[in-house]
Amino acid sequence: MAGLAVRVAGLTLRHPVMNASGILGSHPEGVKLLVDAGVSAVVTKSFTVEPREGYPTPIAVPLPYGLLNAVGLSNPGIDGISVVVEEARRAGLPVVVSIAGSSEDEFSRLASAAEEAGADAIEVNLSCPHAKGMGREIGIEPRLVYSVVSATASVTRIPVIAKLGYVDRLVEAVGKALEAGARAVTLINTLPAMMIDVYAMKPVLGNLVGGLSGPAIHPVAVRAIYEVYREYRIDIIGAGGVEDWRTAAELVLAGARAVQVGTALVTRGLRVIGEIVQGLERYMEEVGVESIEELVGAAHRD
Ligand SMILES: Cc1cc2nc3c(=O)[nH]c(=O)nc-3n(C[C@H](O)[C@H](O)[C@H](O)COP(=O)(O)O)c2cc1C
Repeated sequence: MAGLAVRVAGLTLRHPVMNASGILGSHPEGVKLLVDAGVSAVVTKSFTVEPREGYPTPIAVPLPYGLLNAVGLSNPGIDGISVVVEEARRAGLPVVVSIAGSSEDEFSRLASAAEEAGADAIEVNLSCPHAKGMGREIGIEPRLVYSVVSATASVTRIPVIAKLGYVDRLVEAVGKALEAGARAVTLINTLPAMMIDVYAMKPVLGNLVGGLSGPAIHPVAVRAIYEVYREYRIDIIGAGGVEDWRTAAELVLAGARAVQVGTALVTRGLRVIGEIVQGLERYMEEVGVESIEELVGAAHRD
């Protein structure tokens, strides 16, 4: 597996496949499952300062082309960070703590708590499409991206990764995140979405609106990563519809140094991680490269 080793956002990973935030990373039991599945780093659920129960059900609807969800950032709050970090560290894996908030002060407090708990990096969620006052409302405004990332980066020494969704001014927003001290970006989060029951004549999700993930958003992720890599050549962690080696490889060729798997862990099961890793190894042999790093951004070459 030596050829699959990558460095991204200051982390050394034995292969490029980690979980996406929100899938199994809010409690130690979930972290254990991720470790057993073979992820190269554990990404936690987004933690907020106060515990959040989440939205009323239904919180997720499977679709033929992806998953529609409005979980509502349910998490145990700032005090839950340390147990999750400990569990991942016990397995010897780097741990990325995802944080979400509605003010610079909240982000600073969460970042400090994550560093104190032993996190290896912080992923700042600037892109949740359904939590009011949080996430996407920050990510769509480059000025706010700057202030939140700098509030986070200024209180920690560990790498800060800005997680953005596909927004109109994405390249500008990434530029602001970098200026504010982000070491890398994760692209993309779910896209704003909604479903209506035609007989009930009502929205299906308990929260009415939510986010779309899975295969449907994969081409959007490819484009987002391609555009950002073309502009800055920075470390990018790709997310969005990764469900096999091919979808993972596409994000790498667009410019991602590592990939995250979210929906496929739910729809295909935990073994998908091992399948992607093995598939990438075979692909590297097929195309004759010794290190996956040679493939990062390769689609940009003439
Ligand atoms: C059920 C669910 C919960 C999620 N929760 C979070 C979260 O807490 N923080 C976050 O940054 N992204 C969250 N996401 C977004 C994922 O991390 C990922 O960016 C997105 O789903 C695209 O990847 P995928 O197509 O592999 O699922 C969530 C996604 C799903 C499906």
